[in-house]
This record gives sequence, C-alpha cells and structure tokens, in this order.
Amino acid sequence: MKVAVLGFGTIGFGVYRMLEASPGLEPGPVLVREGKKKEPFQVTSLQEILDDPGVGAVVEVMGGVEPAFTYARETLRSGRHFVTANKALVAVRGLELAAEARQSGAAFLFGAACGGGVPLLHNLALAVKTDEIRSVSGILNGTTNYMLHAMQTRGMNYDSALREAQTLGYAEADPTADVTGMDAARKIALACAVAYGLLPEGGLDCEGIDHLSARDVADFQSRGLTCRLIARGVPAGGTVAAYVEPVLFGAAAPECSVTDNYNMARYEGRFSGPMVFMGQGAGRYPTASSVLRDLSGIQAGQRAMLPPDCAAVQADNDRESHAYYVRLGADRAADLPVDRLLSQGETVRVITKPISVHQMHVYARKERRAGRELFFAAVEG
Ligand SMILES: NC(=O)c1ccc[n+]([C@@H]2O[C@H](COP(=O)([O-])OP(=O)(O)OC[C@H]3O[C@@H](n4cnc5c(N)ncnc54)[C@H](OP(=O)(O)O)[C@@H]3O)[C@@H](O)[C@H]2O)c1
Repeated sequence: MKVAVLGFGTIGFGVYRMLEASPGLEPGPVLVREGKKKEPFQVTSLQEILDDPGVGAVVEVMGGVEPAFTYARETLRSGRHFVTANKALVAVRGLELAAEARQSGAAFLFGAACGGGVPLLHNLALAVKTDEIRSVSGILNGTTNYMLHAMQTRGMNYDSALREAQTLGYAEADPTADVTGMDAARKIALACAVAYGLLPEGGLDCEGIDHLSARDVADFQSRGLTCRLIARGVPAGGTVAAYVEPVLFGAAAPECSVTDNYNMARYEGRFSGPMVFMGQGAGRYPTASSVLRDLSGIQAGQRAMLPPDCAAVQADNDRESHAYYVRLGADRAADLPVDRLLSQGETVRVITKPISVHQMHVYARKERRAGRELFFAAVEG
C-alpha cells in the first residue's frame, strides 16, 4: 500500500523512514508547505496526492485542527484510508471524520494520538469487541512524568525540571498544555471514546502539576509517597467521569517505577482484568511505530477505532471520590472535610475524607480565582 504523508516534521520524517523499511508499505508523496519543497517526493497541495491513483492511505502528522480536518475529509471522501497522530483533530472533529469514513468504507485510525508509542488505543479497540471496559487510566504525559521524576530523585525545583525537559526536547517551547494537564485530558477523552463510545467534549476536570513545589515533593518523600499525573476515564451512568490530577502512590504501586518521560496506560476489562502498557509516549520513532501499527491494521481489515454509535457527552465527575492531600492556608482548612492534619503553621497539609473529584477541582479553581494558592493530589488506595 502506497502511503502519502501530510507534514514532514518530527513524526512525518519518522513515518517516511519507517515506510521505506516496511514490507507491504511504501512511501508516497509528502505534503510540505508552499516554498518548503526540497525533495522530488514532496508536494505542496493535497490535490497532487489525491490525483495519484496509487495512493491508498494518507497519514496526517501536521498538527492542529485546520487544515488537518479539511484534508482528512477530502481524503476519506476520495475513498482512501486516513491515519492521524493528531489528538486535537480527533478530540474536536473525530466524530465527523468517523461518519465520513463509514460512508466511504475507508479506515479512520488514530492510535498514535493517545500515548504515542504505547499501544493503548489499539488494544482497547480490540478489547471492546469481546470485553466490557470498566476503567481506563494512566500516565499519559511524558513531560510531566520527567519533571516529577527529576524533582523526586534529584531534588530539582519545578523551574529547573521544566527547563531540563525543554532542553531534552520533551516539553514544547510553550509547555502549558503539558503542565496544566490539558494534553493528558485530550488523550483520556480519546481513550473514553474508544473504550465506551462516549467522547467527553466538556466537563473534564483538569489539574496539572503547575502548582507543585519542591517542598511538596520533599514532603511526599518523607511519607514514602510518589507523585504522578494521572488521567482517568470511567463509565458514569450514561456518561463518563473523565479527569486529570496528581495522585500520590505508595512505594509498591507500579506507577512509581514509571521513570523519566515514560508513559504507563492501564485498562480494566470485566473479563481480562487489569492490563498495563508501558513505553515511550512520544518521540519520533515510538510515535511513528504507532502510525505504522495503524497502517498494518488497515492491511488486516481494520476500519475504525470508534464504535459506530460513539456520541459526544459532558463528563460527570461527581460520582468519583477520593481522599485528597491538600496544601493550603491554615485559615482555609475548615472549608474541607479534614480527616488528618499532617503539618501545622501558616500553611497546612491535610488529608481529606473522601470527597467528589468535581468538588475538589471546583474548590481549587475557586480558591485560585480568589488569589489563594493551594496544591492537591488524590491519595491512592
Ligand atoms: N512529537 C511527538 O512526540 C508526538 C507524539 C504523539 C503525537 N504527536 C502528534 O503528531 C503531530 C505532529 O507532531 P510533530 O511533533 O511531528 O510536529 P512538528 O515537528 O511540528 O511537525 C509538523 C510538520 O507539519 C508541517 N505542517 C503544519 N501545517 C502544515 C500545512 N498546512 N501544510 C504542510 N505542512 C504543514 C510543519 O511545517 P512548519 O514547521 O513549517 O510549520 C511541520 O514540518 C501532532 O498532531 C502531534 O500532536 C506528536
């Protein structure tokens, strides 16, 4: 199968190289921007790709919603298969693309859009055929995992850990989506769509690590706890609970062994029980390998990752509850149902009784809007 590639950046280059080396697949034309064409195989318009009758599939690795959506729709309307690594595109326009694909009989797959090289969506899409998925969760952002690991093992402060992640190419020049949890939130939304046929478009509660300090990390360590940024999606009475938040784990939890920029994704099937996948959640070849996995799925007859009746929903995080570790001003502690006071002073650290995820996130947003600083993390177990 001849495969065209839209975008020749980090992932596009990796996909092209892997296509050259993969039996049964061959690289086709590569779309680059006007004025950037340097190689004979590069083209500057989608039409040149669609005019090539030999092209059987198109891989999109440009990023952004437009023109990626328009190119995806035109590709599918031409009857060609479409594979993307672009989580923004799938989160915002994925349902429309799935409908286009069903109409034309072409495939629409996006395994690399959640977890990079970690085969979470591929396996979920297979598992839902024979099992009932009861939860999906994981460490889905490598940048924040790198920072958390560096802060814990090398005593780095937040700013130096972020700078190091940027120097190593893990964090974007603008790391906002990573550190606020937004990147992980988009990924868990896609996992919910594949696992439950419910794509949470709004209502996700999202807390990142941008309020974490080196003193917090030292305090976790003194208590034998490790912090990880966890995204979670579970069915919740016709909709889903979907949220991202820091979680504190005891030393025996597998999450503690997820070091550097690695990802770890889990799902729990009614019949399979817990399944865990760990690997590189980003990077040229891990991500390109996931794209190629989709292409080989197409060759084997796979056409969709989303169930045909997949619907957009508002997430509902009121039914999920956890005990939370909270660092906040001493005068604010009475706002929360405190179970244990861990430290005293102007700033206190407390463990709450179990409270709903939504309640905790709403409280933190309200406090910060009022100019009051706090950090919180769910306590696992
Ligand atoms: N990097 C990762 O580890 C990773 C992991 C998982 C998923 N992804 C996803 O993969 C996609 C690509 O990521 P990347 O890291 O490869 O990004 P990148 O290095 O910035 O590459 C994107 C390429 O697409 C080109 N491009 C953008 N718009 C275009 C247009 N309209 N026409 C032609 N070319 C266009 C860009 O050109 P210019 O440079 O001229 O803008 C750039 O060369 C994104 O959706 C990303 O979320 C990436």
